[in-house]
Amino acid sequence: MTIEDETQRDLAPGEARCPGPGVQDFYALDHNPPPPGLMAEHYVYAGSEPLAPERYTSLEFHEREIEKVWRKVWQVACREEDVARVGDTSVYDIGDDSILVVRAEDGRLRAFWNSCLHRGTALRTEPGNVAELRCPFHGFCWSLEGRSTEIVCEWDFPHIEPDEFNLPEVRLDTWGGFVFICMSDDAPSLVDFLGPLPKYFDPFPLEHRHTVAHVVKVMPANWKVALEAFLESFHVIRTHPQVLSYVGDANSQYDNFGSAFNFNRMISLKAIPSPHVAAFTSPEDTLQTARETYGWEGEIVLAEGVTVRQELARAAREELADRTGLDLSNSADSDILDTLQYYLFPNFVPWAGVGLPLIYRFLPNGHDPDSSLMEVWVLQAHEPGSDFPAPAPLRRLSLDEDWTKAPELGGLGPVFNQDSFNMPRVQKGLKTMRGKGVMLANYQESRIRHLHGLLDKYLES
Ligand code: FES
Ligand SMILES: [Fe+2]
Repeated sequence: MTIEDETQRDLAPGEARCPGPGVQDFYALDHNPPPPGLMAEHYVYAGSEPLAPERYTSLEFHEREIEKVWRKVWQVACREEDVARVGDTSVYDIGDDSILVVRAEDGRLRAFWNSCLHRGTALRTEPGNVAELRCPFHGFCWSLEGRSTEIVCEWDFPHIEPDEFNLPEVRLDTWGGFVFICMSDDAPSLVDFLGPLPKYFDPFPLEHRHTVAHVVKVMPANWKVALEAFLESFHVIRTHPQVLSYVGDANSQYDNFGSAFNFNRMISLKAIPSPHVAAFTSPEDTLQTARETYGWEGEIVLAEGVTVRQELARAAREELADRTGLDLSNSADSDILDTLQYYLFPNFVPWAGVGLPLIYRFLPNGHDPDSSLMEVWVLQAHEPGSDFPAPAPLRRLSLDEDWTKAPELGGLGPVFNQDSFNMPRVQKGLKTMRGKGVMLANYQESRIRHLHGLLDKYLES
């Protein structure tokens, strides 16, 4: 144990940090410094109480989540680009609820309960472009605005008032090119729900990006087990040891802004060695990992006094600008290299920056508390107002198909596999767990603690 560790034992809970330089210390050395939003820390200690394992395994808990969380909270239904043209539709299923998102004739997006007002048939089961919303069972029909346009054999329905037979709407709003829905009329507006989150994305407008890869996979664990595996860099030491000479893991920065806010974030630096191995890692080791694991192919010559991080940021900025045609001259080194990952309760994980343009979403898989869906978007930035290609089609991977079956994810596939291999063991072990329950690290797992605090707020409301 180092001297710093022993000193830190006297600190108040949550104040201890990995010995050695942290994110802000490295930022001070970057050639292009990060935007102001990244240059502050916002950690709030929220206790060290264990979590009950049943939160991840019990059907009863899952059913409470459906009722108290999913039916109450703003959540992502799809991308705006999925429903860009008049008549485009997208189906969002969660638990037993199904919401149909439609681009109407007036250009506005609307969300409807996906259920025919005759005998309940789901109006649509797949995305697609339509001129009207016609039920496949008996043919009742609604306009794209949800107005009743045909009641088949109307003479037999004198008890239906056609003007009042319109599809009930669900609340809908958008942010960052994502369509959000909310099934509760009592919830605050999306703007209130997001709070200051959008301000952190001002330098990285997600609405000016388009989908170049989109994959959803059935995961062998509860949606929170799957999600939480991506909310900390603590696991890199054992789960992704091949990247240790390139990834700042234990010295990542975790911010949660307190329980009044529905989002948190993690900053994990790249192109520096992990504190676990820094003492015996050379700059050439870091470069070698960049080549092998992250596919870096450019030549790097380190001038006197220049660090690998500084040089890789410069070279990667040039390569990315050439490849995308974007002007990245003002992009921070951190925007190009690092994991700048936000989390919005309950299940949305948008990344900031331009070098790793990822989005994750996690969902329960129907009513099975032991499996879930993990969805990944890779978004390519484009200039506002420019033409961009139609979104890449969604690839669906089953429980048994691993992430490398989605070659469009490139080097991410093997890394996601490493994360996924742990999950059935976590789910299995949680069911037989003894001791006090799930013990979270005060700092490195504080985003998970924050998630469960928000979850409790909804469950207890
Ligand atoms: S159930 Fe839809 S038309 Fe009959
Ligand atoms: Fe991981």
